[in-house]
Amino acid sequence: MPKINKYVDIDTVEREVKKDLIDRHSPFITVEGEAKVGEMLKVNVKMGKEFTHPDDFDHYIESITLFNGETKLAMTTFVPGTLGNEKSHAEVTFNIRPMGKKLKLVAHGYCTKHGIWESTAVEVAVAQ
Ligand SMILES: [Fe+2]
Repeated sequence: MPKINKYVDIDTVEREVKKDLIDRHSPFITVEGEAKVGEMLKVNVKMGKEFTHPDDFDHYIESITLFNGETKLAMTTFVPGTLGNEKSHAEVTFNIRPMGKKLKLVAHGYCTKHGIWESTAVEVAVAQ
């Protein structure tokens, strides 16, 4: 079982190497538009904001998983080379249909060398 690392705001981290490690492994969630009950909602998850992650055969982002609270909503997997073996931001947009009053979105990114990294939770009100 890989260790689960939680996102830390890199502005609070002093060492540049540590900032890079944290940022490139952290999933960042963006919700497009307003959430309405029963209507499709686009949820984008992008790995890293300021720093890019390798896409090497022995070191790459293998998966991005989206949760609503403790419920798994969706997951995508990558193979090495999806991003051309170039340092990049692995990214996916999930289309989900919210049915409750709110969402508590959390994403996990899995690096084959550095384990699971958890995003900050994003709370979304769902219009009824
Ligand atoms: Fe990594």
